[in-house]
Amino acid sequence: MVVWMLDLDRRQFLYSLASLGIGTQLGCISAVQNFPAREFELVAMAGQALTDTGKPSIAAWTFGGNVPGSQLRVLQGERVRVQVTNQLAVPTTVHWHGVRLPNAMDGVPHLTQLPIEPGQRFIYEFDAIDAGTYWYHSHFQSSEQIDRGLYGTLIVQERKPPAVHRDVTWVLDDWRITANGQVSESFGNAHDMSHAGRIGNVVTVNGSVNDQFPIRAGEKLRLRLVNAANARIFALRFQGHRPMIIALDGQPVPPHEPEGGRIVLAPGMRCDVVIDAVGAPGERYPVQELFSPREQYVLMDLAYDAAPRITDRMAPLAPLAANPVKEPDLKSAKTHEIIFGGGMMGNLHQALLDGKQTDMRSLLRRGKAWAINGHVYDSHHHMEPMLSLALGQSYVFRMRNDTAWHHPIHLHGHTFRVVRRNGFTTPHQEWRDTVLMSPREEIEIAFVADNPGNWMFHCHILEHHAGGMMSVVRVG
Ligand code: C2O
Ligand code: CU
Repeated sequence: MVVWMLDLDRRQFLYSLASLGIGTQLGCISAVQNFPAREFELVAMAGQALTDTGKPSIAAWTFGGNVPGSQLRVLQGERVRVQVTNQLAVPTTVHWHGVRLPNAMDGVPHLTQLPIEPGQRFIYEFDAIDAGTYWYHSHFQSSEQIDRGLYGTLIVQERKPPAVHRDVTWVLDDWRITANGQVSESFGNAHDMSHAGRIGNVVTVNGSVNDQFPIRAGEKLRLRLVNAANARIFALRFQGHRPMIIALDGQPVPPHEPEGGRIVLAPGMRCDVVIDAVGAPGERYPVQELFSPREQYVLMDLAYDAAPRITDRMAPLAPLAANPVKEPDLKSAKTHEIIFGGGMMGNLHQALLDGKQTDMRSLLRRGKAWAINGHVYDSHHHMEPMLSLALGQSYVFRMRNDTAWHHPIHLHGHTFRVVRRNGFTTPHQEWRDTVLMSPREEIEIAFVADNPGNWMFHCHILEHHAGGMMSVVRVG
């Protein structure tokens, strides 16, 4: 560890020193340290997106020149070492969304590290203890930086992956493109912030607009869906097919069909599905996106090629092996009530900002509209924890969405079980790192606070995040 720190600047060195020793406390890390490290390089740099639509490409901020940035693939248990070089003109950081790693590697500016300034480097290093579909993204002014393209995927492969013919990733995003064909500079506007966030007008899969996805009759496909959009929620229906959900946010779940035939992915979320290509050569089946009743569209078609049906038999679908996540003890768990408020058409009339009760109109003037338990958080000043949790203790967060809007709520450094919705036990008790709350919904999540450090807890609609719907949870 000392060796790689030599070439870092002194400020990062001090941050890293402060964090030494934290990593080894996460329960399962020590067991896997015999595997070799996998090294990667990511360069944050100007690049392009929407390059293959036949139209001119648009200027983007990228990891490595394209959007999404390169897919990093490792095996479960391997150590991951990623050198990030910042060639942008602005500072940045990299957050490993959903990965349970040591706090100092979490990539939150001013909370877990200093921003990586232009021309500087930072090395992220952690053990990939959980298999699954993860993604990495800037956490510095993320509403602008993720929107401009600073993200990619991290796949942690199971040691015994399920038998499929193909393992593919679809990173979903949308872009707000102006008449001159470039990304709209309307970042941080009050309307987006206080309503549904920055919804774009061009939807992409893996950084481009596609009208079809080639597929072969008879193949079994593992599809890893990732929502990298700032604000758009996707609800995908695969016409003529029956996708089986095998993992949510990277974590295995008993295989099941999506409720109502729609796979719902809010910003930050992932979903792994297995699809049997039951169509015939030459057929086409639309993949529809149906989340908003006002805007329903075809994402693209599954387009069967002319090749004859694959006839080799794959093993039947079996559940994925569980990751080493500690089971919360609901009997001894401590409960915290957490109320999300604010936004247009809500009940929030005033909230605490910088220690002062501030009315909604003044909040809006200061670029804020949202509160958690009556506090509006400001990423530059108020990083004091909202809650301090005891290391190793089980917790239930009873979360109520007291707003007229959807909020995908994300906790860093942990995975939690979604145990109840509106008082009813959830059918799959799924592990997640991001849970979508519908307007007025009440959700209970349960987890063991087993990863020490200061962890962000925020809405993943990035304009809500910037608008105050964030806080810090301290563990240990
Ligand atoms: Cu994916 Cu705090 O973020
Ligand atoms: Cu939100």
